[in-house]
Amino acid sequence: MAELIDGKVLSAQIRSEVRTEVENRIKSGKRAPFLTVVLIGEDPASASYVKGKAAASAEVGIGSDTLTFDASISEKEVLDVISRLNADQKVDGILVQLPLPAHIDERKVINAIDPAKDVDCFHPQSVGNLVIGIDGFQPATPAGIVEMLQRSQIPTAGKHCVIIGRSNIVGKPLANLMLKKGIDSTVTVCHSRTPNLPEIARQADILVAAIGRANFVTADMVKKGAVVIDVGINRVEDATRERGYRLVGDVDFEAVSKIASFITPVPGGVGPMTIAVLLQNTLKASNKQD
Ligand code: GUN
Repeated sequence: MAELIDGKVLSAQIRSEVRTEVENRIKSGKRAPFLTVVLIGEDPASASYVKGKAAASAEVGIGSDTLTFDASISEKEVLDVISRLNADQKVDGILVQLPLPAHIDERKVINAIDPAKDVDCFHPQSVGNLVIGIDGFQPATPAGIVEMLQRSQIPTAGKHCVIIGRSNIVGKPLANLMLKKGIDSTVTVCHSRTPNLPEIARQADILVAAIGRANFVTADMVKKGAVVIDVGINRVEDATRERGYRLVGDVDFEAVSKIASFITPVPGGVGPMTIAVLLQNTLKASNKQD
């Protein structure tokens, strides 16, 4: 039976480390780090994520502010907001919650964020630094996964890490992090057009599922003793639940946990780690602005 990697416990460790560093900053006469979140439109999932980010910030002593705009806001107005936040010395980190309404070009908005305040690590300059291996902001979900592996003493050097999914938020940045000197994995990225995906997945020492399909990774796709990281958050109908659905990952947890050596649950796995990395990035941003 696989050992559970508990994202709630590990993210609490990171949050406690950030809290200590924030306290030390304040003791030395510096101000608390400050994060501004921009939320556009009425998407309930986005609203809930943003609430979580604000609450986690407050808990570690990071100040935060959420600017909420109607979905009808123009692209020009959003760019003006970003420009104002870039110029505001009290704002260390800027996070524009995605997705944006269809009439706003996501790329234009991300590109407008000052890279020194890009705590999401979505700006092309941040992504470029990540690819080259220059230290800077960490992409939240990929860095959260690396924290999970390292804090669980799971070796990565020379291990074959197979990532299922090639998104800009998870698959691509994770591939770059796992390749970094010091982490040193051999990396394969599979996606929806990979014909022999199960065969490749079976070669993984570390298998990361980030494809966004419930129960996509089945037991026959996992090598005995592999480490399985489940990034998926999928809603499946469940009439026994009050809200009518439950959250499941991309991995058939029940069957795969009998084969893997370590596995992350959903919820309570990768999810809580991403907010912890956002807090680390906001602290880093404030240390850079001093
Ligand atoms: N929407 C879903 N995940 C994320 C994230 O990590 N950052 C932002 N800004 N929006 C998201």
